[in-house]
Amino acid sequence: MAETCTRIRLCSTNDVDWDSAIRVEEGDLTLAVFNVNGMFYVTDDACTHGPGSLSEGYLEGHTIECDFHNGAFDVRTGEVVTPPCMVPVKTYKVVVEDEQVLIEV
Ligand code: FES
Repeated sequence: MAETCTRIRLCSTNDVDWDSAIRVEEGDLTLAVFNVNGMFYVTDDACTHGPGSLSEGYLEGHTIECDFHNGAFDVRTGEVVTPPCMVPVKTYKVVVEDEQVLIEV
């Protein structure tokens, strides 16, 4: 049986500058939306290591460095790139349609 999924609109593509991120709150979710060379990626905004907000971190290529203790994640997969982070951050399937950034949940 096919799984149904819901699409949630997060922002317009123009809301996120190239090679930067914004924080979006939508329902129970607090998310970081990244624009890496025109490709969009979405993760939970909360760093898995502590109180850091990934949308306020330093984005270099596909790597987001948390500005709290400088741990880092790959925004494509959520995998840890640099300790002290140990736990991957959750990522979301992104759909860009009509210049809108949506996630499928
Ligand atoms: S809170 Fe993000 S690295 Fe510690």
